[in-house]
Amino acid sequence: MVRLCQERPKLFRVGRDRHIRPEDVLAGRAHGFEPIRDGASLGHEPESGMHVETERLVLRQPILADVPALFEFLGDAAAMQYTHVDASVRECRRRIAAHARRRRRDGYAPWTVVIRADARIVGWGGLYNDPFQPGWGVEVGYFLHPAAWGCGYATELMSACTDIADHALELHEVRAFARPENVRSRRVLEKAGFGVVKFVPEMERLLYRRRRPSASAAQ
Ligand SMILES: CC(C)(COP(=O)(O)OP(=O)(O)OC[C@H]1O[C@@H](n2cnc3c(N)ncnc32)[C@H](O)[C@@H]1OP(=O)(O)O)[C@@H](O)C(=O)NCCC(=O)NCCS
Repeated sequence: MVRLCQERPKLFRVGRDRHIRPEDVLAGRAHGFEPIRDGASLGHEPESGMHVETERLVLRQPILADVPALFEFLGDAAAMQYTHVDASVRECRRRIAAHARRRRRDGYAPWTVVIRADARIVGWGGLYNDPFQPGWGVEVGYFLHPAAWGCGYATELMSACTDIADHALELHEVRAFARPENVRSRRVLEKAGFGVVKFVPEMERLLYRRRRPSASAAQ
């Protein structure tokens, strides 16, 4: 399989401007949050300037035209063996649209993950409140094309998420779920400072949590 890894520049940067203002995040201005027109869940074009840039990635709001590329891996039963697999392009579109509707309310939802150098779509992920299994608080999730595994992109995406959660949204904690067998996902979480809270039998997953550093220091 052709690998999609890009060279890693020395500096780490989130956004055009490292300081993302909370009001911009919540108003959907800082990192590509979709201003959804009435009746439409997924737009046709992202708004210009509304995205986060990391070292090698652009994180932007998903648009309708992304769906076939996203389905390539979100519908890949082998790659997604430890997580949800979309059965069809239609199901994939509905899932992404459901998250887009949440973005309208929360100001955040998973991004389409794009390689900066060649604009190739390699993933989908970010912070979200799960529209399908609500009530678990703000979660982080990441799903990459298997050709892009092992490049550190999930870790790079995760750094942007924790940075935004800590400094822009000032969230007390972020949660995540991973099946015990999903070693790659668990490593991404553990590298980012997440710890296991408990096994949740009805989800057959481990619940992970990362507290905001200042919040945990204060306890
Ligand atoms: C989970 C998933 C996103 C992890 O992807 P990944 O590429 O293994 O994760 P990372 O981006 O952290 O890359 C890890 C490996 O890339 C390599 N790597 C290369 N360059 C790197 C860099 N600059 N930084 C970090 N790791 C780098 C390392 O070898 C690293 O492995 P290590 O942690 O053992 O050192 C991917 O397996 C996936 O999409 N799985 C299917 C969907 C899924 O299960 N999602 C989770 C639902 S809970």
